[in-house]
Amino acid sequence: MTLFGLSFFVLALSHFFTVYSRPTGDHLRNIDSFIRAVQQVEDSNPGLSPLALVRALRRTAGHDDEMTNHFLGALYNLSDAELLETAIFNASSFSFFDKALHHIVTNYGEERGVVLAPDGTTVALTPLLLGIESGLKAKIEGTQAVGLFPLTLGRTLGLSFLSLQDFPPSYRLGPNGCWDSVDRPKLFKLSRPATLATDAVINGGMDGAILGMDLSNLPASEQPQALSEVLKGYYSFDLYEAQGLDAVTRHVSPRRREISRSILEPLDLHSQVMETLALVWKLEKTEWIALDNGVGKAVKDGLQEFVHKYWDCPQIIPRCQWGAKPYQSTPIPLSLPLQFLYVHHTYEPSSPCLSFPNCSRNMRAMQRFHQVDRGWSDIGYSFVVGSDGYVYEGRGWNHLGRHTRGHNAIGYGVSIIGNYTATLPSRHAMDLLRHHLVRCAVDGGRLAANFTIHGHRQVVNYTSCPGYAFYSEIRSWEHFSE
Ligand SMILES: *[C@@H]1O[C@H](CO)[C@@H](O)[C@H](O)[C@H]1NC(C)=O
Ligand SMILES: *[C@@H]1O[C@H](CO)[C@@H](O)[C@H](O)[C@H]1NC(C)=O
Ligand SMILES: *[C@@H]1O[C@H](CO)[C@@H](O)[C@H](O)[C@H]1NC(C)=O
Ligand SMILES: *[C@@H]1O[C@H](CO)[C@@H](O)[C@H](O)[C@H]1NC(C)=O
Ligand SMILES: *[C@@H]1O[C@H](CO)[C@@H](O)[C@H](O)[C@H]1NC(C)=O
Ligand SMILES: *[C@@H]1O[C@H](CO)[C@@H](O)[C@H](O)[C@H]1NC(C)=O
Repeated sequence: MTLFGLSFFVLALSHFFTVYSRPTGDHLRNIDSFIRAVQQVEDSNPGLSPLALVRALRRTAGHDDEMTNHFLGALYNLSDAELLETAIFNASSFSFFDKALHHIVTNYGEERGVVLAPDGTTVALTPLLLGIESGLKAKIEGTQAVGLFPLTLGRTLGLSFLSLQDFPPSYRLGPNGCWDSVDRPKLFKLSRPATLATDAVINGGMDGAILGMDLSNLPASEQPQALSEVLKGYYSFDLYEAQGLDAVTRHVSPRRREISRSILEPLDLHSQVMETLALVWKLEKTEWIALDNGVGKAVKDGLQEFVHKYWDCPQIIPRCQWGAKPYQSTPIPLSLPLQFLYVHHTYEPSSPCLSFPNCSRNMRAMQRFHQVDRGWSDIGYSFVVGSDGYVYEGRGWNHLGRHTRGHNAIGYGVSIIGNYTATLPSRHAMDLLRHHLVRCAVDGGRLAANFTIHGHRQVVNYTSCPGYAFYSEIRSWEHFSE
């Protein structure tokens, strides 16, 4: 090792010890811990504006790339930024945020800088906070939010599409992953090699765009709430009524796909991503990249995949996340595309599930019943729809299910949790199935374009499934056939 290398090493090491060896304990990587830490800072700094706080967090996270500075202002330019930060954070809160905010994927496929939200999805904090800062800045200055799309999604998407041009579009985005424990989350492991736009980065980007837009659109007379309140309102809420999300008009995390789509799709994403890339190259003085004539096509193909994967398809909670037991023998592959979709209700559990912990518990109970009491290899359904805003993975797209006697090889079996003999599922849960899951299946080549919907009772005798009320509803659905 050269002398220079050694001194660099020693320097890095001492930095490591000063920053990382403080006795903070291992913190949990869920959004509640993050909100609590934010709230403690707010409590010990009365009068601190939310904008000053997100700026101090940006500084802690070291987000000082050219494009961020271009839209939000360089932090080293804010005369007293450094003083502000040291006044706000003491050693232990600095160390907490320093660890919580830095986004990296390790060589072992662990993604850091992400947190588990109460709805069971995982969110990167960086794009979330950049969107919020853009919204708060606009609110204070009385202008439109600038750079909201480039900061939250545009830059990451554009760079991810380009960096993986030689791979099929479906490999240029994602993946999702799973936590070591949903009750005490500490380690998030990705399911395959990471792109720049992991699912968590995209979720954080959508949330940042939504919250940034909401903050910038607050009426002039209304002051923005504290950062902790903004985050709580969006991530930590309870659904009580059987109608679930139908009764919620506020912006909440399980609706991120539909709300971000309604905000962003009208913007003409193709030209937005192209402009974002041009800006990044200009600021970084790498304009020559734009001369590559594959850029336009890479962005077009990438965006088409983005729209399919994150807006048309529902978010599917993977098996590892709801605590599935392994399949008991070797799964049998389906031959795709299938021709039928069989609609079920679970009957038992008889109440719609309204939260990630409760829907997951229902999934585990049904799997136990099917594996232990019935002696099947796995939960019977292909997918199960909760009333918490999410679809849960059963046997999935590729494996033969056990849901509709005599028809399992030719169709998917999808069930909505609840007893729909006399009442209907929430509109939101039905839309997840009839619009999103179906479109996802057809566009992804899993269901034939001319597929047919049947209720379970139409093809199997002695069952009233999916319940009288729900059955009469699906008879009016597109693709239903007597
Ligand atoms: C550090 O700051 C946090 C939040 O401002 C506060 O809750 C905590 O008590 C402080 N810790 C110490 C050791 O001063
Ligand atoms: C920083 O401040 C200088 C002088 O006030 C100004 O010329 C420059 O444009 C600023 N830079 C950024 C990135 O805001
Ligand atoms: C979850 O289930 C528990 C017990 O089964 C119940 O008390 C609670 O109200 C449920 N929570 C939600 C949000 O549905
Ligand atoms: C399902 O709903 C019907 C109609 O309300 C009711 O008669 C039946 O007992 C319910 N079954 C279960 C398991 O809750
Ligand atoms: C659906 O389309 C396929 C090929 O396009 C055709 O072979 C099949 O007969 C059609 N099925 C129905 C039910 O119309
Ligand atoms: C269901 O019952 C009807 C009439 O009772 C009978 O014709 C039909 O073959 C039965 N279907 C199956 C799949 O058992």
